[in-house]
Amino acid sequence: MSLRNRLTQTNKESQPQPEAAAPPPPPQPAAITPRAELARPRPGDLSEDDYNRLKKWLLGKVAEGLDEHADLKRTPTTIQMLRDRFTLVYGQAKVSLPADAVEALFSAIVDEIVGFGPIEKLLNDPTITEVMVNGPKQVYIERAGKLLVSDVSFEDDDHVMRIVDRILWPLGRRVDRKLPMADARLPDGSRVNVIIPPSAIDGPVVTIRKFSAKKLTVEDLIAFGTMTSQIADFLRACVVSRLNIVVSGGTGSGKTTLLNVLSGMIPEDERVITLEDSAELQLGQPHVVRLEARPADPDGTGAVTIRDLVKNSLRMRPERIVVGEIRGGEAIDMLQAMNTGHDGSLTTLHANSPREAIGRIETMSLMGGLEIPLKVIREQIAKAVDLIVQQARLNDGSRKITYVTEVSGMEGESVVTQDIFKYDETLGANGKPLGMKPTGLRPFFTPRLESHGFKLPPEIFGASAGDMLLHNRRR
Ligand SMILES: Nc1ncnc2c1ncn2[C@@H]1O[C@H](COP(=O)(O)OP(=O)(O)OP(=O)(O)O)[C@@H](O)[C@H]1O
Ligand SMILES: [Mg+2]
Repeated sequence: MSLRNRLTQTNKESQPQPEAAAPPPPPQPAAITPRAELARPRPGDLSEDDYNRLKKWLLGKVAEGLDEHADLKRTPTTIQMLRDRFTLVYGQAKVSLPADAVEALFSAIVDEIVGFGPIEKLLNDPTITEVMVNGPKQVYIERAGKLLVSDVSFEDDDHVMRIVDRILWPLGRRVDRKLPMADARLPDGSRVNVIIPPSAIDGPVVTIRKFSAKKLTVEDLIAFGTMTSQIADFLRACVVSRLNIVVSGGTGSGKTTLLNVLSGMIPEDERVITLEDSAELQLGQPHVVRLEARPADPDGTGAVTIRDLVKNSLRMRPERIVVGEIRGGEAIDMLQAMNTGHDGSLTTLHANSPREAIGRIETMSLMGGLEIPLKVIREQIAKAVDLIVQQARLNDGSRKITYVTEVSGMEGESVVTQDIFKYDETLGANGKPLGMKPTGLRPFFTPRLESHGFKLPPEIFGASAGDMLLHNRRR
């Protein structure tokens, strides 16, 4: 089915029937949502409507005869070809606009033909980290950790779908009524999710997590206040000492970024295998093998799951397995791998606290379908997972490590954890949160760190040497 047919079908099917009750109006952005300042070009003296009409007409003329799937690139030759066409048809339009408005029109038309239309400038703005198209008339961005509504919009659903098609076509993917969702990646590596009507009620929704060419480093995270240098030293010791570490956090809390930073601490001479749904990790070490899962083809075959990759990676002589995110049955394979000599593994999962992370691993392990009793799964978790690092996005938009928690064993039927460091939001005398503080407990795995040459001073855990002696004797 051609794109046009699919669009018409999608739109027809999402149209309310005449006799049906009018659908509720789409949710409006909260009045307090701040607007992004995006320096939008002004369309001269034209009204918004006239400007849009003119743009549409010019676009039709400039694009006439060009193959909509030609995948034109933004090369100087293509831009010149488009400029020649534009100059010609603009002359026929018999309008007189200021030079900068004409240039803005030309650039908008170029963005439509060789780019991603209205959101192209958002994608090119390095201060924007996420772009969220909620139907044609509402586009949000994330900047400095804050969600802002932008002044960018599309003409209608078809316009969004043209851009969706431009994203999916080169990857051989598509969305339609039967398969209304797709994950994809832009040529620059940005991660894209698309969901369209009828599943998306108010029009096609596109969510783009922008790829950042420069991954955040441990120094950046310290500078941003995500962690202190003591936590960084502690985590480095844990990674080098081959602890199994789970990074836990909510959506967009910075789990993958932290996983990347932790993976970067793996010594250069170790063979690292990374497994991801969509390759985001960028490791600097020389010996890294990258594996990526893939969804099924439209006929339902050809899927390669993270679980398949975990099983396969065990036959690849891994020294470290780094799994981008565990979401399902692969959890049990990871646990078994960690408990059978593949220590030093790192992964992330979606949970709002270290305790919840344990619960999630339990549930996901049960999804593995191996019919293992819960108590045994818990024992495996207690044995396999050494450390949970909780990351959160706070209300002010900053990302912080909020807990560093040891999984210390089993007590009866329960997995026991103890917090080693904890973020304290209480405001101090200077009006700022007290921040990350040691809880005074020294991890049970300290001897493992020491056997790898890390003699961390007791003060790092918030205790004097004397306290530590006492603490250890009590154990
Ligand atoms: N510590 C940090 N400080 C500031 N920005 C950060 C920090 N960590 C991550 N970011 C930014 O936040 C965004 C989300 O980060 P990331 O992809 O690591 O989150 P995530 O938890 O893995 O998200 P998802 O749940 O979608 O997988 C990115 O734009 C990233 O650059
Ligand atoms: Mg992630």
